[in-house]
Amino acid sequence: MIHLFEGDITQANVDAIVNAAKNSLLGGGGVDGAIHRAAGAELLALCRALPDKNGVRCPTGEAKITDGCNLPAKYVIHTVGPVYSQVSNPADLLARCYRNSLALAKENQCGSIAFPAISCGVYGYPIEAAAKIALEACCQKEHADLDIYFYLFGRSDFEIWQKIYRRLSS
Ligand code: APR
Repeated sequence: MIHLFEGDITQANVDAIVNAAKNSLLGGGGVDGAIHRAAGAELLALCRALPDKNGVRCPTGEAKITDGCNLPAKYVIHTVGPVYSQVSNPADLLARCYRNSLALAKENQCGSIAFPAISCGVYGYPIEAAAKIALEACCQKEHADLDIYFYLFGRSDFEIWQKIYRRLSS
């Protein structure tokens, strides 16, 4: 079941929230900064403890899971979206972020998960195209037992997600 919300994902009362992180998983601005601030310093320590290869703890399109620390959510799933203008296959990488996050949520027995609009801020993904990829990845029969929330930041992003969702469900 898909639920669309306008608001701050750090407040989401779900089993797992997804962070739109950078490859190092060592925090940043945007939703990443908000999640780390709300979760507390322990989250950064947990991320730092994840294995890395030349500073990369999570390759683009993949996902890693940590505890949610001080967040209402039990877990944070950290995924790294593509920088839209810097890769040749942004749609494939963005879809993999959603699919891999959903798979991790299931492996960890989550019944609910909340996503932000991955790559739609600093990483520059056009919002309508991103909404279509996100919703298509989540509207699969295999995820019907999962409550999937999208937290859109701002009215305009929320309305775009709503429009694409209506289009996909009609
Ligand atoms: N709750 C929900 N959504 C949020 C929040 C929040 N508290 N704060 C920001 N957003 C929204 C933005 O408005 C945007 O639509 O999250 C979306 C993703 O934007 P970014 O956070 O910029 O993420 P992204 O485009 O994937 O870029 C990732 O930004 O800060 C860095 O460390 C991060 O380097 C990484 C990069």
